[in-house]
Amino acid sequence: MALLGVNIDHVATVRQARRTDEPDPVWAAAEAELGGADGITFHLREDRRHINDRDARLLRETVSVKLNMEMAIAPEIVDIACDLKPAQVCLVPERREEVTTEGGLDVIAHRSRIRKAVKRLADCGVVASAFIEPVDDQINASAEAGFHAVELWTGGYAHARAPSEVSERLAALARGIETARRVGLIVHGGHGLTYRNIAPVAELPGFTEFNIGHSIISRAVFVGVREAVRLMKDLLVRHAPPG
Ligand code: PXP
Repeated sequence: MALLGVNIDHVATVRQARRTDEPDPVWAAAEAELGGADGITFHLREDRRHINDRDARLLRETVSVKLNMEMAIAPEIVDIACDLKPAQVCLVPERREEVTTEGGLDVIAHRSRIRKAVKRLADCGVVASAFIEPVDDQINASAEAGFHAVELWTGGYAHARAPSEVSERLAALARGIETARRVGLIVHGGHGLTYRNIAPVAELPGFTEFNIGHSIISRAVFVGVREAVRLMKDLLVRHAPPG
């Protein structure tokens, strides 16, 4: 069954709406662990719009499950990752004007910068996953760049409305998993996954980790972080592929 990484950025977003000290994403991480999270994911953006350096440091000190840091390939952030040494980083594209990460990293277009960042991280003992679209060329380029894993962008599936498009996006994810495994990559999934749309993705064999943020934190507003995580974890258990 795939592990559940809970992205706690949105808790920091609420805090930053008032530039105060609550709600604390570090508390949210502890609550997520109590709800059964297998991992905690956070994105230290260059503009520090939600998670800040203090959060990153405290998460590193207090999280007892897998800590996954999403980050751009900016040298300043690579330095911080090398210092922090999370269990894993996930390299993502980052644009200041975006509301959230939109689509995957273009590993082909930024091949040489990405290769350098992955090498630098590896030299510091940090493994890296690439957040990419489920496209063969990007998957192959990720393997060549030295990533140990890819996180396949599930946003295309999540945003699809017509049943034919939903099926096509699911098929693309299944093909992506196959290609990635063939070239020796571990396969994660994330973006736009919700309580309503997780089942068909969870049922695909091959995903070892999902990173889910917005839907869980939205549910947590009504039922609390611990219960929201428990409910998502329960769906992953119920819809785990056989075997
Ligand atoms: N995975 C990656 C790489 C992301 O950038 C994000 C969004 O920060 C997520 C997963 C979580 O996406 P969502 O908040 O839509 O669940």
